[in-house]
Amino acid sequence: MFNQVFKNKRVLVTGHNGFKGSWLTQWLSLLESDIFGIALPPLTNPNHWDLLKINLKKEFIVDINNFDKVKTCFEASNPEIVFHLAAQSLVKEGFISPQKTWSTNVLGTANVLECCRLSKSVKAVVVITTDKCYENNEWTWGYREIDRLGGKDPYSASKSSCELVVESYKHSILNPNNKIKYATARAGNVIGGGDWSSNRLIPDAIRSVTRGDSIELRSPSSTRPWQHVLDCISGYLLLAENLYLKGNEYSNAWNYGPEDSARKTVEEVIVDLKKHIPNLTWHINSKQATGESGQLHLDSSLVKSKQRWRPVWNYDKSIYETAEWYNMWIKYNKVNTKNNINNYIKDATKEKLIWTIN
Ligand SMILES: NC(=O)c1ccc[n+]([C@@H]2O[C@H](COP(=O)([O-])OP(=O)(O)OC[C@H]3O[C@@H](n4cnc5c(N)ncnc54)[C@H](O)[C@@H]3O)[C@@H](O)[C@H]2O)c1
Repeated sequence: MFNQVFKNKRVLVTGHNGFKGSWLTQWLSLLESDIFGIALPPLTNPNHWDLLKINLKKEFIVDINNFDKVKTCFEASNPEIVFHLAAQSLVKEGFISPQKTWSTNVLGTANVLECCRLSKSVKAVVVITTDKCYENNEWTWGYREIDRLGGKDPYSASKSSCELVVESYKHSILNPNNKIKYATARAGNVIGGGDWSSNRLIPDAIRSVTRGDSIELRSPSSTRPWQHVLDCISGYLLLAENLYLKGNEYSNAWNYGPEDSARKTVEEVIVDLKKHIPNLTWHINSKQATGESGQLHLDSSLVKSKQRWRPVWNYDKSIYETAEWYNMWIKYNKVNTKNNINNYIKDATKEKLIWTIN
């Protein structure tokens, strides 16, 4: 897969020990990359990263707000490919700590990109933002990459600002020979095993099951597009491959959303999860959560036509694999991540999504 681009390549992942970062790092490890990671100590206990026990070339426990330290990490790792995932990633935390959210998501991103610019090795940079970077007009149709950026809460606004930081590096802060190719990747509500973040639906549901109580649903009728984490990660890897091998035409913003059939309400997700986790129970708090949008989803036509990416696991499969991941962990203390990746690759191959460039 991926034209062997990642094999023996020096790859730096910021946020490697977070939910998405740990899945990406596991997949890169299967692709035999030399992986370096920058993050804070794991934010939850338990956490996916500690369960995976992946061998990194070097791990840097460094705050991306500290430019000098981030620069030292780049000098010590000389990466060719950078995936920037480190962020204050939670909408609710954005209301509690807006300045930290702005600082990490905007200035932290500027620090990482400045280190990329100063580095002699970096060739491709994929910056992970979110579907929430768009100005949300509560449209029933999907947002396209050309739609206006916005964000009414600190998290969303900081992520759309992060998009602008990347734009400025791409267009005006030139690096020697313009050798670095930057792109941003926008995705929505991601599910999969190994997430224990607060105030996310599936982690909250699993916590309620392990505690033996019932989960409170704050916005049961809010509709979201639900997507398995591997569908996101395959998109990020493909984007890095295209940036690395082909360059400029991929140096853009890209949406990675699931199919329309994966747009479900919060309550529907819980009902479907219960089919695989019978102990799950819930109750509804009819007060709408502050500042959360009713609906928002992405139009992913661009990436489908230009990069031949599309979701491999549909909604039912994504819910099933997520539930089974947690069932294996709860019942047998087993971590199903590598199996999930290998099965996902088999399914992608069956669908002739082998992601090589002709
Ligand atoms: N999980 C989702 O549903 C989702 C949806 C859309 C976008 N995203 C974006 O994807 C990226 C990864 O999200 P996630 O779900 O894995 O988040 P996460 O909260 O699980 O992990 C965040 C990672 O960032 C690191 N980090 C946070 N602050 C840092 C700092 N100051 N210095 C260094 N490292 C720091 C953490 O240590 C951790 O490794 C984020 O940019 C997030 O905004 C996530």
